Amino acid sequence: MAIRKILEFPDPRLRTRAAIVPAVDGRIQTLIDDMFETMYDANGIGLAASQIDVHEQVIVIDLSSDGSAPRVFVNPSIEVIDETLDGFEEGCLSVPGFSEAVERPKAIKVEALDRDGRPVDETVTGLLAVCLQHEMDHLQGKLFVDYLSPLKRQRIRQRLEKEQRRKA
Ligand code: NI
Repeated sequence: MAIRKILEFPDPRLRTRAAIVPAVDGRIQTLIDDMFETMYDANGIGLAASQIDVHEQVIVIDLSSDGSAPRVFVNPSIEVIDETLDGFEEGCLSVPGFSEAVERPKAIKVEALDRDGRPVDETVTGLLAVCLQHEMDHLQGKLFVDYLSPLKRQRIRQRLEKEQRRKA
């Protein structure tokens, strides 16, 4: 397993649309293992492959605080079950240090494959619904800052660019 580098906004590679995974094989399982290691190392609760510059449809999530509830979603598709919007303060490992309220539908049905290529089909609500929709956006090249006002997004962009120049 290996910790991969997480791309940070406004890196244009984060705008790439992820391709469908042709088969959940050893290559994808290694990717999944690396994604979990990278996510846990960064204290995140979700990571899309797009964030480590791998543009394939793979999401990992763990909402537990001790790494005990890993969830894998390969080639996920979602359908809105309850369009009622719920606001949640979202953060993102690709937008470090910032969090803002984003409104999303409160219940979704997700279909995907797990780490062994077995089908996943469930209706989810609460934090898992928020997290899944956030990670699905990454696979489409979209970030939570896209939901904010242009002024807010510009401020975040400038502060992150300054930080990135400082670290370079
Ligand atoms: Ni994110």
